[in-house]
Amino acid sequence: MAFETIKLEQDGFIGKLTIARPEALNALNSQVLDELDKALDEVSANKELRVLIVTGEGRSFVAGADIKEMASLSPIEGKEFGKKGLGVFRKLEKLEIPTIAAVNGFALGGGCELAMSCDFRIANEKATFGQPEVGLGILPGFGGTQRLQRLVGQGWAKYLIYTARNIKAPKALEIGLVQEVLPVDEFEARVDELANIVANNAPIGVKLAKEAINTGAQVDIESAIKIEENLFGLSFATEDQKAGMQAFVNKGKAEFQNK
Ligand code: CAA
Repeated sequence: MAFETIKLEQDGFIGKLTIARPEALNALNSQVLDELDKALDEVSANKELRVLIVTGEGRSFVAGADIKEMASLSPIEGKEFGKKGLGVFRKLEKLEIPTIAAVNGFALGGGCELAMSCDFRIANEKATFGQPEVGLGILPGFGGTQRLQRLVGQGWAKYLIYTARNIKAPKALEIGLVQEVLPVDEFEARVDELANIVANNAPIGVKLAKEAINTGAQVDIESAIKIEENLFGLSFATEDQKAGMQAFVNKGKAEFQNK
């Protein structure tokens, strides 16, 4: 379907979801969240896609939830708005295919939370991260209090959330919030390269690994190991397992068929 505030594009195995409200630095209002929700359903239904890149148009990734929309919300409306964002971000996090946040600029508040709902984060040198909510009289409401501590530990999460301080990409790299930082002119090419590297690995193997990591992180280690054991076994049911191992034995390289 046609969207007004986001763009969903496909190039072969790779999908690209762009938040496109540059006049508001891609702030997330209800319309953006509703469109993201629909776009994620389209991504889930598209069986050609192997990787999804999430990025922002212009000089911002996402500068947060829309403060102008939130300013006059009642407690009940605030809760509903939070629930909407949390639901969409959880849907993103639970997509079967891997997701890469390509952080091209401001990733503040809901923007940092959007990036954290992706599987990993690649930033350009200009990117800025932060959870400025307590400076607005609220707290992170699209998953920030939960995902930030899981990614960088409680000390850094509390430091960033309580101080409302923004950090630049190199600091985000140092604390493990992002995986790579690139000069602006190399950034897009590197994101595409990484997306292609992931897309050319066995897609079902990648999906099962994502399931094992995400599900295993929510349970005790005994149950988590059992989850890996079962998913590892399941990977042997794929044609790509046969092709991948046969190619190794023959000193070749497999072209995975996603089967
Ligand atoms: N909501 C609504 N509009 C926003 C916005 C936001 N989060 N961020 C930027 N904009 C708008 C600005 O109001 C401005 O619009 P106008 O031209 O109509 O005035 C336009 O985008 C450009 O922004 P600036 O002129 O402010 O650009 P700048 O380069 O001077 O500053 C910035 C950039 C530092 C990112 C600054 O815009 C800013 O501080 N934005 C707010 C960041 C923030 O606090 N985000 C957290 C929101 S709360 C949240 O996300 C809650 C949650 O967890 C769900």
